[in-house]
Amino acid sequence: MRVIETIEEMQALTQKPLWNKKIGFVPTMGALHEGHISLIKKAREECSEVVLSIYVNPSQFGENEDLSNYPRTLREDLEKAKKAGAGFVFLPYDDEMYPVGYGSWINVEEITEILCGKSRPGHFRGVATIVAKLMNIVQPDFMYMGEKDYQQVAVLKKMINELHFKTKIVTCPIVREEDGLALSSRNKYLNDDERVRALCLKKSINKARELFISGETKVDNIRKEMESIISNANGVVDYIEFVDKDTLRTKIDVDNNTRVVLAVFIESTRLIDNSDLR
Ligand code: PAJ
Repeated sequence: MRVIETIEEMQALTQKPLWNKKIGFVPTMGALHEGHISLIKKAREECSEVVLSIYVNPSQFGENEDLSNYPRTLREDLEKAKKAGAGFVFLPYDDEMYPVGYGSWINVEEITEILCGKSRPGHFRGVATIVAKLMNIVQPDFMYMGEKDYQQVAVLKKMINELHFKTKIVTCPIVREEDGLALSSRNKYLNDDERVRALCLKKSINKARELFISGETKVDNIRKEMESIISNANGVVDYIEFVDKDTLRTKIDVDNNTRVVLAVFIESTRLIDNSDLR
Protein backbone atom coordinates (compact mmCIF):
# COMPACT_ATOMS: atom_id res chain seq x y z
CA MET A 1 0.00 0.00 0.00
CA ARG A 2 1.40 3.36 -1.00
CA VAL A 3 0.84 6.51 1.06
CA ILE A 4 0.64 9.71 -0.98
CA GLU A 5 0.76 13.14 0.62
CA THR A 6 0.89 15.63 -2.23
CA ILE A 7 -1.53 16.49 -4.99
CA GLU A 8 1.35 16.45 -7.48
CA GLU A 9 2.28 12.88 -6.63
CA MET A 10 -1.33 11.74 -6.78
CA GLN A 11 -1.84 13.44 -10.14
CA ALA A 12 1.39 11.99 -11.55
CA LEU A 13 -0.02 8.59 -10.77
CA THR A 14 -3.39 9.29 -12.36
CA GLN A 15 -1.66 10.09 -15.62
CA LYS A 16 0.10 6.74 -15.86
CA PRO A 17 -1.37 4.04 -18.12
CA LEU A 18 -2.08 2.12 -14.94
CA TRP A 19 -4.84 4.59 -14.48
CA ASN A 20 -6.71 3.19 -17.45
CA LYS A 21 -7.80 0.41 -15.17
CA LYS A 22 -10.98 0.65 -13.09
CA ILE A 23 -10.24 2.96 -10.20
CA GLY A 24 -12.36 2.74 -7.08
CA PHE A 25 -12.22 5.66 -4.66
CA VAL A 26 -13.27 5.77 -1.01
CA PRO A 27 -13.21 9.29 0.48
CA THR A 28 -13.17 9.39 4.31
CA MET A 29 -12.24 11.58 7.24
CA GLY A 30 -10.41 8.72 8.94
CA ALA A 31 -11.08 7.16 12.37
CA LEU A 32 -11.86 4.13 10.24
CA HIS A 33 -14.45 1.63 11.45
CA GLU A 34 -16.21 -1.35 9.87
CA GLY A 35 -18.50 1.00 7.91
CA HIS A 36 -15.50 2.50 6.11
CA ILE A 37 -13.90 -0.93 5.77
CA SER A 38 -17.01 -2.28 4.02
CA LEU A 39 -16.58 0.41 1.35
CA ILE A 40 -12.89 -0.43 0.81
CA LYS A 41 -13.69 -4.14 0.54
CA LYS A 42 -16.48 -3.55 -1.94
CA ALA A 43 -14.19 -1.36 -4.05
CA ARG A 44 -11.51 -4.07 -3.83
CA GLU A 45 -13.96 -6.64 -5.19
CA GLU A 46 -15.12 -4.49 -8.08
CA CYS A 47 -12.11 -2.39 -9.15
CA SER A 48 -8.52 -2.99 -10.20
CA GLU A 49 -7.11 -0.21 -8.01
CA VAL A 50 -8.47 1.19 -4.76
CA VAL A 51 -7.63 4.67 -3.54
CA LEU A 52 -8.64 5.70 -0.03
CA SER A 53 -8.44 9.31 1.08
CA ILE A 54 -8.22 10.39 4.69
CA TYR A 55 -8.79 14.09 5.19
CA VAL A 56 -10.66 15.87 7.96
CA ASN A 57 -12.13 18.56 5.74
CA PRO A 58 -12.34 21.81 7.72
CA SER A 59 -14.80 23.48 5.34
CA GLN A 60 -17.63 21.07 6.15
CA PHE A 61 -17.54 21.78 9.90
CA GLY A 62 -19.58 24.65 11.32
CA GLU A 63 -18.11 27.13 13.79
CA ASN A 64 -19.49 25.33 16.84
CA GLU A 65 -18.80 21.84 15.55
CA ASP A 66 -16.19 19.27 16.47
CA LEU A 67 -13.36 19.96 13.97
CA SER A 68 -10.60 20.33 16.56
CA ASN A 69 -11.51 17.22 18.54
CA TYR A 70 -12.66 15.08 15.61
CA PRO A 71 -11.04 11.66 16.23
CA ARG A 72 -7.68 11.24 14.48
CA THR A 73 -6.22 7.72 14.48
CA LEU A 74 -3.90 7.70 11.47
CA ARG A 75 -1.60 4.83 12.46
CA GLU A 76 -4.48 2.42 13.07
CA ASP A 77 -6.27 3.71 9.98
CA LEU A 78 -3.31 2.82 7.75
CA GLU A 79 -3.15 -0.70 9.15
CA LYS A 80 -6.87 -1.23 8.65
CA ALA A 81 -6.77 0.24 5.13
CA LYS A 82 -3.97 -2.10 4.12
CA LYS A 83 -5.73 -5.13 5.52
CA ALA A 84 -8.97 -4.21 3.73
CA GLY A 85 -7.15 -3.98 0.39
CA ALA A 86 -6.50 -0.29 -0.33
CA GLY A 87 -3.62 0.12 -2.80
CA PHE A 88 -3.14 3.86 -2.29
CA VAL A 89 -3.93 6.19 0.60
CA PHE A 90 -4.10 9.88 -0.17
CA LEU A 91 -3.49 12.15 2.84
CA PRO A 92 -3.65 15.73 1.61
CA TYR A 93 -2.62 18.70 3.75
CA ASP A 94 -4.81 21.70 4.55
CA ASP A 95 -2.41 24.17 2.96
CA GLU A 96 -2.55 22.30 -0.35
CA MET A 97 -6.32 21.83 -0.32
CA TYR A 98 -7.15 25.32 0.93
CA PRO A 99 -4.18 27.62 0.36
CA VAL A 100 -4.36 31.19 1.64
CA GLY A 101 -6.87 33.11 -0.46
CA TYR A 102 -8.79 29.99 -1.50
CA GLY A 103 -12.12 31.00 -3.07
CA SER A 104 -13.77 28.33 -5.26
CA TRP A 105 -16.87 26.65 -3.85
CA ILE A 106 -19.59 24.35 -5.12
CA ASN A 107 -23.12 25.08 -4.04
CA VAL A 108 -25.71 22.44 -4.90
CA GLU A 109 -29.00 24.28 -4.44
CA GLU A 110 -32.18 23.27 -2.58
CA ILE A 111 -31.35 19.66 -1.73
CA THR A 112 -28.62 21.01 0.59
CA GLU A 113 -30.99 23.38 2.40
CA ILE A 114 -33.17 20.69 4.01
CA LEU A 115 -32.59 18.01 6.69
CA CYS A 116 -28.93 18.13 7.82
CA GLY A 117 -28.36 21.21 5.66
CA LYS A 118 -30.87 23.15 7.73
CA SER A 119 -29.15 22.51 11.04
CA ARG A 120 -25.64 22.55 9.56
CA PRO A 121 -25.58 25.56 7.20
CA GLY A 122 -22.61 25.43 4.84
CA HIS A 123 -21.91 21.76 5.58
CA PHE A 124 -22.81 20.42 2.13
CA ARG A 125 -21.02 23.28 0.40
CA GLY A 126 -17.88 22.02 2.14
CA VAL A 127 -18.63 18.39 1.29
CA ALA A 128 -19.45 19.07 -2.38
CA THR A 129 -16.34 21.20 -2.81
CA ILE A 130 -13.89 18.75 -1.21
CA VAL A 131 -15.36 15.74 -3.02
CA ALA A 132 -15.20 17.56 -6.37
CA LYS A 133 -11.55 18.46 -5.67
CA LEU A 134 -10.72 14.89 -4.66
CA MET A 135 -12.46 13.48 -7.75
CA ASN A 136 -10.47 15.84 -9.96
CA ILE A 137 -7.23 14.74 -8.33
CA VAL A 138 -7.90 10.98 -8.18
CA GLN A 139 -9.96 10.63 -11.39
CA PRO A 140 -11.87 7.59 -10.15
CA ASP A 141 -14.33 5.56 -12.21
CA PHE A 142 -16.34 4.62 -9.13
CA MET A 143 -16.73 6.29 -5.77
CA TYR A 144 -17.91 4.13 -2.87
CA MET A 145 -20.14 5.83 -0.31
CA GLY A 146 -22.27 4.73 2.61
CA GLU A 147 -26.04 5.04 2.85
CA LYS A 148 -25.38 6.12 6.44
CA ASP A 149 -25.00 9.66 5.06
CA TYR A 150 -28.07 9.45 2.88
CA GLN A 151 -28.37 13.14 2.05
CA GLN A 152 -24.65 13.37 1.27
CA VAL A 153 -25.05 10.70 -1.42
CA ALA A 154 -28.10 12.45 -2.91
CA VAL A 155 -26.27 15.81 -2.99
CA LEU A 156 -23.16 14.31 -4.59
CA LYS A 157 -25.17 12.35 -7.18
CA LYS A 158 -26.85 15.60 -8.21
CA MET A 159 -23.51 17.41 -8.40
CA ILE A 160 -21.91 14.62 -10.45
CA ASN A 161 -24.84 14.59 -12.83
CA GLU A 162 -25.13 18.35 -13.24
CA LEU A 163 -21.40 19.05 -13.49
CA HIS A 164 -20.68 16.06 -15.77
CA PHE A 165 -18.12 14.27 -13.65
CA LYS A 166 -17.25 10.86 -15.09
CA THR A 167 -17.31 9.16 -11.68
CA LYS A 168 -20.25 6.96 -10.72
CA ILE A 169 -21.33 6.59 -7.10
CA VAL A 170 -21.73 3.09 -5.68
CA THR A 171 -23.78 3.17 -2.48
CA CYS A 172 -23.23 0.60 0.25
CA PRO A 173 -25.58 -0.38 3.07
CA ILE A 174 -25.27 0.96 6.61
CA VAL A 175 -23.02 -1.17 8.81
CA ARG A 176 -24.36 -1.45 12.36
CA GLU A 177 -23.23 -2.71 15.74
CA GLU A 178 -24.88 -5.96 16.79
CA ASP A 179 -27.47 -4.05 18.82
CA GLY A 180 -28.40 -1.85 15.85
CA LEU A 181 -26.47 1.38 16.40
CA ALA A 182 -25.13 2.62 13.06
CA LEU A 183 -21.33 2.78 13.15
CA SER A 184 -20.02 6.33 13.17
CA SER A 185 -16.74 7.98 14.12
CA ARG A 186 -18.84 10.19 16.41
CA ASN A 187 -19.97 7.19 18.51
CA LYS A 188 -16.61 7.65 20.26
CA TYR A 189 -18.05 10.72 21.98
CA LEU A 190 -20.75 8.67 23.77
CA ASN A 191 -20.25 7.58 27.38
CA ASP A 192 -21.74 4.24 28.52
CA ASP A 193 -25.10 5.70 29.44
CA GLU A 194 -25.36 7.71 26.22
CA ARG A 195 -24.32 4.67 24.19
CA VAL A 196 -27.37 2.80 25.50
CA ARG A 197 -29.67 5.76 24.90
CA ALA A 198 -28.32 6.11 21.34
CA LEU A 199 -30.20 2.94 20.44
CA CYS A 200 -33.37 5.03 20.30
CA LEU A 201 -32.59 6.00 16.70
CA LYS A 202 -32.68 2.42 15.42
CA LYS A 203 -35.53 1.48 17.76
CA SER A 204 -37.64 4.34 16.39
CA ILE A 205 -36.83 3.23 12.83
CA ASN A 206 -37.90 -0.31 13.69
CA LYS A 207 -41.17 1.08 15.04
CA ALA A 208 -41.75 3.08 11.85
CA ARG A 209 -41.21 -0.02 9.72
CA GLU A 210 -43.49 -2.06 11.92
CA LEU A 211 -46.26 0.55 11.62
CA PHE A 212 -45.86 0.87 7.85
CA ILE A 213 -45.90 -2.89 7.36
CA SER A 214 -49.06 -3.15 9.41
CA GLY A 215 -50.77 -0.60 7.13
CA GLU A 216 -50.10 2.85 8.66
CA THR A 217 -49.25 5.45 6.00
CA LYS A 218 -49.79 8.78 7.80
CA VAL A 219 -46.48 10.50 8.49
CA ASP A 220 -47.81 12.33 11.55
CA ASN A 221 -48.87 9.12 13.25
CA ILE A 222 -45.59 7.35 12.57
CA ARG A 223 -43.52 10.36 13.62
CA LYS A 224 -45.39 10.66 16.92
CA GLU A 225 -44.51 7.07 17.85
CA MET A 226 -40.88 7.64 16.90
CA GLU A 227 -40.70 10.85 18.93
CA SER A 228 -41.99 9.08 21.98
CA ILE A 229 -39.27 6.37 21.76
CA ILE A 230 -36.63 9.08 21.41
CA SER A 231 -37.90 11.25 24.25
CA ASN A 232 -38.06 8.19 26.54
CA ALA A 233 -34.31 7.89 25.96
CA ASN A 234 -33.89 11.62 26.66
CA GLY A 235 -32.85 12.18 23.08
CA VAL A 236 -33.56 15.54 21.45
CA VAL A 237 -34.94 15.32 17.92
CA ASP A 238 -33.27 17.59 15.38
CA TYR A 239 -35.49 16.22 12.61
CA ILE A 240 -37.49 13.14 11.65
CA GLU A 241 -38.60 13.32 8.03
CA PHE A 242 -40.19 11.00 5.52
CA VAL A 243 -38.79 11.73 2.08
CA ASP A 244 -38.78 10.44 -1.46
CA LYS A 245 -35.74 8.14 -1.67
CA ASP A 246 -34.29 9.93 -4.72
CA THR A 247 -35.36 13.59 -4.59
CA LEU A 248 -35.54 13.84 -0.78
CA ARG A 249 -38.83 15.74 -1.14
CA THR A 250 -41.07 15.49 1.93
CA LYS A 251 -43.96 13.03 1.86
CA ILE A 252 -47.28 13.26 3.67
CA ASP A 253 -48.22 9.64 3.07
CA VAL A 254 -45.47 7.06 3.13
CA ASP A 255 -45.07 4.35 0.50
CA ASN A 256 -42.47 1.86 -0.71
CA ASN A 257 -40.29 4.67 -2.11
CA THR A 258 -40.14 6.53 1.18
CA ARG A 259 -36.98 6.85 3.24
CA VAL A 260 -37.21 7.82 6.88
CA VAL A 261 -34.27 10.03 7.84
CA LEU A 262 -33.53 11.39 11.28
CA ALA A 263 -31.02 13.30 13.37
CA VAL A 264 -31.05 13.14 17.16
CA PHE A 265 -28.94 14.71 19.86
CA ILE A 266 -27.84 12.43 22.67
CA GLU A 267 -26.56 15.18 24.96
CA SER A 268 -24.07 17.06 22.78
CA THR A 269 -23.51 14.25 20.25
CA ARG A 270 -25.58 14.53 17.09
CA LEU A 271 -26.33 11.16 15.51
CA ILE A 272 -28.02 10.41 12.19
CA ASP A 273 -29.68 7.31 10.80
CA ASN A 274 -32.09 6.37 8.01
CA SER A 275 -33.89 3.43 6.48
CA ASP A 276 -36.41 2.37 3.93
CA LEU A 277 -39.71 1.22 5.39
CA ARG A 278 -40.11 -2.08 3.60
P1 PAJ B 1 -16.78 9.95 6.86
O1 PAJ B 1 -17.79 10.38 7.87
O2 PAJ B 1 -15.43 9.53 7.32
O3 PAJ B 1 -17.42 8.81 6.01
C1 PAJ B 1 -16.74 8.26 4.89
C2 PAJ B 1 -17.67 7.31 4.18
O4 PAJ B 1 -18.00 6.21 5.05
C3 PAJ B 1 -19.01 7.95 3.78
O5 PAJ B 1 -19.38 7.54 2.47
C4 PAJ B 1 -19.97 7.42 4.84
O6 PAJ B 1 -21.31 7.36 4.41
C5 PAJ B 1 -19.39 6.03 5.05
N1 PAJ B 1 -19.87 5.46 6.34
C6 PAJ B 1 -19.76 6.03 7.56
N2 PAJ B 1 -20.37 5.25 8.49
C7 PAJ B 1 -20.86 4.18 7.83
C8 PAJ B 1 -21.60 3.02 8.21
N3 PAJ B 1 -21.96 2.80 9.47
N4 PAJ B 1 -21.94 2.12 7.25
C9 PAJ B 1 -21.59 2.33 5.95
N5 PAJ B 1 -20.90 3.41 5.53
C10 PAJ B 1 -20.54 4.31 6.44
O7 PAJ B 1 -18.61 11.27 4.89
C11 PAJ B 1 -17.50 11.77 5.08
O8 PAJ B 1 -16.52 11.16 5.82
C12 PAJ B 1 -17.10 13.10 4.47
O9 PAJ B 1 -18.22 13.93 4.38
C13 PAJ B 1 -16.40 12.97 3.08
C14 PAJ B 1 -17.33 12.36 2.03
C15 PAJ B 1 -15.12 12.15 3.21
C16 PAJ B 1 -16.00 14.38 2.57
O10 PAJ B 1 -15.15 15.01 3.46
